[in-house]
Amino acid sequence: MDDKWKLKNFERVVFFTGAGISAESGVPTFRGKGGLWDQYKPEEYACQEAFDRDPQAVWEFHDKRREIVAGCKPNAAHHHIAAYEKEHPNTVVVTQNIDGFHQDAGTQNLYEMHGSLWHVRCDASGTKKENRDIPFPIEDRSPAGEVWRPDIVWFGDYLNEDTIQKARNAFHASDLVVIVGTSGVVWPAAGFPLEAQKRGATLIEINPEESDFSIYCDLCLRGPATQELPKLL
Ligand code: OAD
Repeated sequence: MDDKWKLKNFERVVFFTGAGISAESGVPTFRGKGGLWDQYKPEEYACQEAFDRDPQAVWEFHDKRREIVAGCKPNAAHHHIAAYEKEHPNTVVVTQNIDGFHQDAGTQNLYEMHGSLWHVRCDASGTKKENRDIPFPIEDRSPAGEVWRPDIVWFGDYLNEDTIQKARNAFHASDLVVIVGTSGVVWPAAGFPLEAQKRGATLIEINPEESDFSIYCDLCLRGPATQELPKLL
């Protein structure tokens, strides 16, 4: 690979990650064969209407997701990114993942665009807290007397405006975006690397398959994240 693609040639790097970065840890992706949305209908398990109808069923689905993630750990790709950030504090990680693996690996400058499997919230009282119980104690009530819901962006939900704005600012300030393991089909997240490119940033993709980003990228590394990411270091 040409030396010009190495991270050392850039000043402000944003890593934009999706489910593919955690695939080698053992967490299933959403789309494609064996993907989560192949097995579970989002309208039954991942939207506010489903939660209002049957919070128990929605929590059981999220308990399963918690169990899977709790049985896995960050892989070399998460660790490479965290180590790079330690050396280059300008670095920002924007993730669509809810597994918490970037924090577990030591990443500090992190925006979780789709929330976290390990936080719950109550919109009526505007409260939020960390919780790692499996199964989640659904009988616990929020200060407003509500069932706590996972603090995850479900289908039909709004994204957290503050997180989005900070993530967008990081993209706009970047000179390199490394897109790792995302199909690029979910908006507005998918638009950010393209906004960065319009402002002059280079785009590099790491994905064994073509994605919606591929045609825009300056370089596509076709392979698993743990194998391809070290080539940029
Ligand atoms: P997807 O499941 O849509 O895409 C995963 C991508 O990872 C695919 O392009 C795979 O080719 C790639 N991939 C698989 N194994 C990989 C590996 N070892 N290394 C690198 N790449 C690999 O997941 P996302 O793009 O993250 O949203 O999905 C975006 C959003 O859609 C999710 O955050 C979730 C979902 O609905 C919400 O829940 C709001």
